Amino acid sequence: MMDMERALVLDTVRVTEQAAIAASRVSGKGDSDLVDQAGVDAMRSVLNELDIDGEIVIGEGERDEAPMLFIGEKVGLAGANSWPVDIAVDPVEGTGIAARMVNNAVAVIALAEKDGLFKAPDTYMEKLIVGPPAAGKVDITWPVAANISSIAQSLDRNVEDLTVVILDRDRHVDLIKDVRATGARVKLIGDGDVIAALSAAVRGTNVHAVMGTGGAPEGVLAAAAMKCLGGEIQGRFKPRNDAELERLNAMGASTEKVYKTNDLAPGSSIVFSASGITNGDILKGVRFFKGGARTHTISMGYESRVMRLTDAVHLFDDDARVTLEV
Ligand code: FBP
Repeated sequence: MMDMERALVLDTVRVTEQAAIAASRVSGKGDSDLVDQAGVDAMRSVLNELDIDGEIVIGEGERDEAPMLFIGEKVGLAGANSWPVDIAVDPVEGTGIAARMVNNAVAVIALAEKDGLFKAPDTYMEKLIVGPPAAGKVDITWPVAANISSIAQSLDRNVEDLTVVILDRDRHVDLIKDVRATGARVKLIGDGDVIAALSAAVRGTNVHAVMGTGGAPEGVLAAAAMKCLGGEIQGRFKPRNDAELERLNAMGASTEKVYKTNDLAPGSSIVFSASGITNGDILKGVRFFKGGARTHTISMGYESRVMRLTDAVHLFDDDARVTLEV
């Protein structure tokens, strides 16, 4: 399926670029639904131009109650020779931060061959995410201090030199205390644990791990990226109520099992792309100018072993002109 990755990786970049441009255009207005809707519409419209026979398996969750790219929705040209793919999307990862125009909102997508992405229910997941040096050397069932110590060793750093990203939520009070007690620093984020996961797997961000409970669908997106980057995610489903537990069981998932990168993203062909909506640790946000916009994207293919950082200039008007800078 290498051909599939090669055929789709650049198209996939176009999907997140357009979603980021549309969402960014209406960011900073304090309206999460408006941002989400713009991202969804743009993403759907580019997906429908692609030579794929695609099904959304991770979509805009029921949680958002926004007009969705919903689970089970079919996208793409769906011709006789179109690539059959399963798709995970988050057109605006961090709707609240995009609405407030603060850091790290991104448009994200992952594509894989059929059944190449775990069909995770829209519930919570406790996560432990690390970059390539610590992959295989952590265990979500260990005490926090044991994982922190192993991450420090893997990175040849002192524990005091580690930064752990945690979503700023009341449910994390104990976790935050435990991490701080080791000496490591905690970076609290308002939203957006997918881009945080990427930060842990990319050098130069000063982020070394992500811990705590966030969305399970975001766990699958993070897994697709970790698989391409050589990092690791471990996750345990944390349903918030009986209805979520029932749904989880009905989908064949378990609260007992620790789901690892390959469980969440089992595909042998995976394409991942994220474009910045607002400025962030890895990506710049969309910058508009007269008649156009500039976008910044990280994309990758698992089997094709390619990672790209794409700095693109898009001209909207026929008469728009721009002088490229190097
Ligand atoms: P949205 O993209 O729906 O805004 O979600 C952002 C997010 O922060 C995720 O990154 C994270 O996994 C999840 O929400 C956490 O959920 P909650 O806000 O309920 O704690």
